[in-house]
Amino acid sequence: MLKSIAILICFGIMWVSCFAAGGEAQERNVLYVGSEACKECHDAQFKSFMANSKKAGSFANILRMQKKLSDSEFRDCFKCHTTGYGEPGGFRSAEKTPHLKNPGCEVCHGAGSIHAESGDPSDLKVKVSLKVCNRCHNSERVAAFGFKPILYSGGH
Ligand code: HEC
Ligand code: HEC
Ligand code: HEC
Ligand code: HEC
Repeated sequence: MLKSIAILICFGIMWVSCFAAGGEAQERNVLYVGSEACKECHDAQFKSFMANSKKAGSFANILRMQKKLSDSEFRDCFKCHTTGYGEPGGFRSAEKTPHLKNPGCEVCHGAGSIHAESGDPSDLKVKVSLKVCNRCHNSERVAAFGFKPILYSGGH
């Protein structure tokens, strides 16, 4: 009797962990690929972004301040000054993920690996709205810089 209960519990655990792993794998499927990967199909947006958006060179701005910061303070900057930090397939470090060093296309349009492969717009799951911007342009920053973004600015 005890043995069969043990076996049942075992199966239960296997079943649950199987589902958990499946869910994670699905989330992991969409990864960040970096702005360069969008260039071949969206040359106009890419060129305009690289030329006009301060995001495109933003990592350099935090590097300039790194000396004055502790390691963990510096890592705090990554959340807004890189692409996908802390998310699956997102920025990890300048050495490991140089293509995600700056906040790129995907901070507004969402992780783009599936769309960049298929070219199908419905593979982009994020609808760009001010909610997307507020993650980084939060009220604290808006107060500090006296600057509130409007939806069509700072992109391309
Ligand atoms: C293999 C080609 C290809 C690549 C690479 C690609 N796209 Fe696209 N994308 C398309 C096509 C085709 C469309 C639909 C026609 C259009 O709007 O230009 C599209 C549409 C879009 C749209 C408009 C979506 C809509 O609902 O109208 C956005 C935003 C976009 N792409 C962002 C990106 C980003 C960000 C990347 C890089 C991560 C990227 N694309 C990489 C082919 C591509
Ligand atoms: C919550 C998101 C967020 C975090 C975290 C953050 N920043 Fe920023 N930073 C922004 C935004 C957004 C701007 C653009 C100006 C604005 O509208 O606030 C900006 C602007 C800047 C600028 C001005 C660039 C220029 O054009 O001169 C510098 C420098 C900067 N940040 C450095 C840092 C450093 C260093 C850290 C880490 C200690 C950091 N930021 C953390 C969001 C953030
Ligand atoms: C600051 C946010 C932001 C960034 C960064 C950004 N975009 Fe967009 N993008 C938008 C907004 C807003 C729209 C218009 C609304 C929409 O279509 O959802 C848009 C629309 C588009 C479209 C549809 C056609 C058009 O031009 O309206 C494409 C394609 C696109 N973006 C590609 C890119 C690519 C490629 C990059 C990087 C090189 C990029 N975007 C970076 C905000 C951004
Ligand atoms: C991942 C964080 C992040 C998100 C999301 C984000 N931004 Fe930004 N944005 C920044 C940072 C960081 C800067 C400052 C770049 C610098 O100067 O180093 C910035 C700068 C800007 C600027 C300053 C001018 C320029 O040309 O770059 C505008 C305008 C702007 N963002 C608009 C938007 C809008 C509109 C959205 C949403 C559609 C958006 N941003 C989403 C991080 C973000």
